[in-house]
Amino acid sequence: MLLSLINHCYIFAMITQIKTNSPLQNFSYLIEYQKGKFWCLDPYDAGQINGEIDKRGGQLEVIINSHEHWDHYQGNEQLLSRWQCELWAHPKALGIIPNVSRALKAAESIKMDENCSLEILDTPGHTFAHISLLIKEHEIPQSIFSGDTFFNAGVGNCRNGGDPKALFQTIKKYYETLPDQVLVYPGHDYLHNNLKFTLSLDKENESAKHLLQKPAKVMSMKDERNYNLFLRLQNESLKESLDLKSSSEEEIFIELRKRRDQW
Ligand SMILES: [Fe+2]
Repeated sequence: MLLSLINHCYIFAMITQIKTNSPLQNFSYLIEYQKGKFWCLDPYDAGQINGEIDKRGGQLEVIINSHEHWDHYQGNEQLLSRWQCELWAHPKALGIIPNVSRALKAAESIKMDENCSLEILDTPGHTFAHISLLIKEHEIPQSIFSGDTFFNAGVGNCRNGGDPKALFQTIKKYYETLPDQVLVYPGHDYLHNNLKFTLSLDKENESAKHLLQKPAKVMSMKDERNYNLFLRLQNESLKESLDLKSSSEEEIFIELRKRRDQW
C-alpha cells in the first residue's frame, strides 16, 4: 500500500523518500541519478518500489542495503527477481543478506555521473555491518542516507548486534563533522518520539517544541544540531538533567542511549 511519497529534486539526482506500511515506520528510498535509472536503498515493500519506478518509467539498476536487519532488505528478493539488478552491502553483511553482488569498501566513492558521487562510510554502532551513504555534488556533501545509525532527533539503538561506544565514535567521526547544509534521510520515521525524548531532558528546547508543532519532512544537519541530544553532549542544561556535569562526552552519549532505550 502506498502511504506517501515525497520527492526532492536536486540539480543532478532526484531522491524519493518512501514511507512504508512497516510497523517499524521504515523509510525506503529511490535515487534517480540519471533519467530513468534508479538505485533503491533499503527496500521494504517491493510493490511500492516497483509502482514508483513504473509510474515514472525506467529501470532499477542497483539495490543497496544499509545493514543486515530484515526490515532493511526484505524487498530484495522480489526486486532482484524482476530486475536482475546488482545488490550492494557492507562486507560483513555477506552470508547474512542473501545474493549480495558487491561488498562496498569503506571510503569508496562511486560515480553516479560526471557531477555526482556516492561515498561509502563504514559506520559501526547500530550493527557492525552498517554503511551510511553520502551524496556529493561537485565534491560538496549534499545528502546522507543514515540507515539506523542516525535518526532525526536521535541515533540508532545498539540492542541487536551493536555497541554504544562504537556508535559514539561513528557519530563523532562522520556525523558531527558533516556541513550544515547536508540533508538527513534516515531509515525510520522516529521524529515524534525522539523530539519528546529531547524535551524530557531539555525542557526549554525551542527548536524541538517548534518541530513537534510543525513537523517538517526532511531536516538538515543544521536543524539536527539544534535538537538532537546526541549532537549536544556539551549542552549545560542536558548535563544538568542527567546529573553528569563533569562527565566525558562518551559517558553522556552512553547514558543518553541507555535512557532512550528505557524511555
Ligand atoms: Fe536496524
